[in-house]
Amino acid sequence: MAAVLALLAGCGDGDVAARRKALAANPTLATRLAAADAGRGARLFGQCAACHTIGAAAGDRNGPNLHGAMGAPVAGVSPRYGYTAALRGRGGRWTDAAMDAWLTDPAAVAPGTAMRFPGVRDPLDRADLIAYLHRQSEPIR
Ligand code: HEC
Repeated sequence: MAAVLALLAGCGDGDVAARRKALAANPTLATRLAAADAGRGARLFGQCAACHTIGAAAGDRNGPNLHGAMGAPVAGVSPRYGYTAALRGRGGRWTDAAMDAWLTDPAAVAPGTAMRFPGVRDPLDRADLIAYLHRQSEPIR
C-alpha cells in the first residue's frame, strides 16, 4: 500500500510540470479545472486539514467540516458550525469561481473572516484543490 501511494504521489507531482507547460500563461479557471488533478488536490488538502475535516460524517475543527462544499450555500456547508457574520454576510453558493477567489485570499472575500489562512497563490494548486472538493461533494449513494 505504501509503495502504491508513493508511486501515485510520484506520478501526480511529476505531472505538474507538464500540466503547467500545457496551460497558457494566464489560464482561465475553466481551463485550469479541465486540467485539474483531484488526487493531487487531496494531498494539497493537507494544508487545510489542521482546521478542516472533509469526511462525510466528520466533525468540525477550528473550521467547519467541508464535505459537500461545492454548490453548498456560503457559510452553510456545516450547519452546526458557528460562522462569523463576515462570512454569513457574503451570501450565494460555492461555485467554482467563488471558491477560487476564497482560496486565493479569504480575507479579501470576507474581511473579518475567522479563516486565518494566507491563501493559495498558485492557480493550478487551487484548481486541484477545487477538483478534490468536488470529489468530496458527490452525493452519497
Ligand atoms: C487556520 C485554520 C484554517 C485553515 C488552515 C483553513 N481554513 Fe478554511 N476555514 C477556517 C475557519 C475558521 C472557517 C470559518 C470562517 C468564518 O466563519 O468566517 C473556514 C471556512 C472555510 C470555508 C467556508 C465553508 C462554508 O460553510 O461556507 C471553506 C470552503 C474553506 N474554509 C476551505 C478551506 C480550504 C480548502 C483550506 C485549505 C486550502 C482551508 N480552508 C484552510 C479555518 C481554516
